Amino acid sequence: MKIAVTSASGQLGSAIVKQLIKEIGKENIIGIARTTSKATHLGVEIREGDYNNREQFNTALKGVDAVLLVSGMDKPENRIQQHRNVIEAAKQNGVQKIVYTSIVGHEENSAFSPIVQSNRQTEKDVIASGLQWAIGRNGIYIEPDIEYIDNYIKEDGIRNSAGDGKCGYTSRPELAYAYSQMLIEEKHNGKVYNLTGKAITQTELAEIINQVYNTKLTYTSLTVAAYEEARKKALGDFLGTVIAGIYEGIKIGAYDLVSDYEKAAGRPHKSTLKIVEEIKKNEEK
Ligand SMILES: NC(=O)c1ccc[n+]([C@@H]2O[C@H](COP(=O)([O-])OP(=O)(O)OC[C@H]3O[C@@H](n4cnc5c(N)ncnc54)[C@H](OP(=O)(O)O)[C@@H]3O)[C@@H](O)[C@H]2O)c1
Repeated sequence: MKIAVTSASGQLGSAIVKQLIKEIGKENIIGIARTTSKATHLGVEIREGDYNNREQFNTALKGVDAVLLVSGMDKPENRIQQHRNVIEAAKQNGVQKIVYTSIVGHEENSAFSPIVQSNRQTEKDVIASGLQWAIGRNGIYIEPDIEYIDNYIKEDGIRNSAGDGKCGYTSRPELAYAYSQMLIEEKHNGKVYNLTGKAITQTELAEIINQVYNTKLTYTSLTVAAYEEARKKALGDFLGTVIAGIYEGIKIGAYDLVSDYEKAAGRPHKSTLKIVEEIKKNEEK
């Protein structure tokens, strides 16, 4: 069985490739990347694939049995056609199964909703493809919060608009483990899974970071409008709106979900504390 993984140069794609190497061996995996030079370190066959280029995917998916489609990073209005390029090329090449990394969240009521909508449209396109399929809806990654710790210290703690809302954070390695199982095992065909951990508040997140990193972070709740304005100023309109929309979503409960992680992975999701401890251990290596 040959499995191809798109965006293999990225952090999620490469984590999935690494997990699959452990499961089925490197000779059975093909990494597809827009920037191939950033994926060669993985030690598997690498083929070229820009989501904007349907022809590249026609070539990249030759001889492939199953493809893992990592959702793109482009503006939501561009993503749908980009993902269709991969789905159409998969159909044309006789690929049997497609697994898609979607996102949790509400399709309406937050500034992040346009991205959620575009992911839901790709889910529909995957289901309509006629191929076998499985869909994961990724929880919010915890890693960016850990990378941001020095800024949290400078900014006088964690300050955002999530309020008392809870978020079921996950991590790229946790997702990679679940996706490897969803690709390999037929019992996941036709399933949509929320790939999230146990939901926690921002105050609990601060406590976990304090415990592992010996910091003294506190949490301060800001209004949705004030936080959006601050993020846009720091990150520009597109990314600022996306990030602010995620915290607005946490506030309204969009990320406090029943998790299907165990069904997908065959084991429970790691606790946020354990994940943060592992991140710190890896930093020290
Ligand atoms: N759940 C969350 O909290 C969360 C947070 C951020 C993102 N996401 C989603 O998760 C996905 C993967 O995240 P990540 O951690 O792997 O991000 P990442 O490390 O920034 O990687 C992004 C990947 O997307 C690839 N890419 C961008 N445009 C492309 C195109 N036109 N054609 C083909 N590949 C393209 C990049 O390729 P190059 O190496 O060529 O640039 C790179 O491999 C993202 O695409 C996004 O949809 C989720």
